[in-house]
Amino acid sequence: MQQDASATPMTPSERADALEEQMMHELEHIVTKSVLFNLADGKVAMEGGAALLAKNPGKFMLMGEDPRLPKMPEKPTLVDYFRCRFASTAHLLQSATHALKAGHNEKVILACLLHDIGVVSFIRCDHGYWGAQMIEPYVDEEVSWAVKAHQALRFFPDESVGYKYPEMYLKLFGPDYRPEPYIVEEYKRARKHKWYMTSRLITLNDIYSFDPNAKVDLDDFVDIIGRNFKQPKEGLGLDNSPSAHMWRTMMWPTRFL
Ligand SMILES: [Fe+2]
Ligand SMILES: [Fe+2]
Repeated sequence: MQQDASATPMTPSERADALEEQMMHELEHIVTKSVLFNLADGKVAMEGGAALLAKNPGKFMLMGEDPRLPKMPEKPTLVDYFRCRFASTAHLLQSATHALKAGHNEKVILACLLHDIGVVSFIRCDHGYWGAQMIEPYVDEEVSWAVKAHQALRFFPDESVGYKYPEMYLKLFGPDYRPEPYIVEEYKRARKHKWYMTSRLITLNDIYSFDPNAKVDLDDFVDIIGRNFKQPKEGLGLDNSPSAHMWRTMMWPTRFL
């Protein structure tokens, strides 16, 4: 990348864009960002195939794995996603460890272990819904329901089990934050549901689970996963379930189509 000395100096964000562009050029294939990645940068934008080909003569679009990311095995398991795609697992492992030590059943432990996979692998907004959908074909209905409902329940106290509105939310969102009406409605439905307490236990094990020094290990949960998560024989994401595409997208987030 050559810069004309007489040109106006680049701003830090222009420099970051230029570096990213240069890095993309060094790859064997054309790697491009989907609209969602641009939206997160505050841009409603996408690059079309023709423009990308013109900028990268002699190269084809990336249609498989992204060489910059950890290599996934041919038939990935949930544990492989934990190791190769989840950006942070400490909070999940701490939540599940709390549930384990409290003597909860394996459905609750698994729900705690998976409750925030939407956040750590995909997207924060509505992560409970995303996470629930991702796991729904592979777990007991109670587990995915609980993951979905924690999206709403965490905003509402339940003194009967000692759950208060999290202090951390006051810090994160300010004292005036109020959940959206759809979250309030979800809460009301969940409150009356037969599995309410399963989801409530996610929130109960959740708020204490941000200790950076806690000793946790995914190995402690491999057996519970084995007994309660139906690993598809083709590989998670390479099967034909209604959410397989979500796992594939995580595996190949920059595939052109
Ligand atoms: Fe969450
Ligand atoms: Fe959480």
